[in-house]
Amino acid sequence: MEFYEAIRKRRTIREFLEKDVDPEIIKRILEAGNQAPTWNHNRNWSYIILRTDEEKEYAFEYAKKFADKFDSEKYLNAPRPYPTTPAQKMYGYAVPKQFTMLKDAPWVVIPVFKCKELDGTYVSRLNPFSTIWCVIENILLAAAAEGLGCSMRIPLNEEHDIVKAKLKVPPTYMIPVFIGIGYADPNEIELEQNAADLDKQMHYGRWK
Ligand SMILES: Cc1cc2nc3c(=O)[nH]c(=O)nc-3n(C[C@H](O)[C@H](O)[C@H](O)COP(=O)(O)O)c2cc1C
Repeated sequence: MEFYEAIRKRRTIREFLEKDVDPEIIKRILEAGNQAPTWNHNRNWSYIILRTDEEKEYAFEYAKKFADKFDSEKYLNAPRPYPTTPAQKMYGYAVPKQFTMLKDAPWVVIPVFKCKELDGTYVSRLNPFSTIWCVIENILLAAAAEGLGCSMRIPLNEEHDIVKAKLKVPPTYMIPVFIGIGYADPNEIELEQNAADLDKQMHYGRWK
């Protein structure tokens, strides 16, 4: 697939077809992850792969509880002094799917990066975190180029430490995201997104 076409085709999905993905394709996608730029030249991240229902149910118990207790109708119909925004509509749609969008993906990839804890004192101290997000974006784009879709969940609050302990991730590593990879269900609805206006985003010379 042509590069810009892959960029255009990438979108976050939350419904998968019941169809497995060839392990060689997954390896190509993760090789693309490994081509990402790196702050310390070490590329010292790893990928935990979940394949079975048991593994996913065990890892994502927190996500399941979070999704199950969310009342989407109540959230979307709550009185607001302004019309419901696209981001709120997305939240109302996505939260109930936070478990199934991982459980129903034939492959779940959990990148882990070497970092004991995040330190945001300076932007540069976040380099390990920034690097793993370069890896993640390469994975998302490579999956799109392979005709696949990805779901992604960021571990919420204490969910990070809970999943880290369950998966026996060493103390010196952190989990930025859980990624589900598979063939997208073409019948999944596509919600409206706010479009960015490049002309307004570009500031020549200084902010103006
Ligand atoms: C940093 C980050 C965190 C996100 N967290 C979640 C998440 O926890 N659960 C989820 O379903 N989607 C999550 N998303 C996906 C966004 O909802 C999605 O990227 C956004 O709606 C734009 O849609 P698109 O990816 O199809 O362009 C996240 C995306 C980013 C970049």
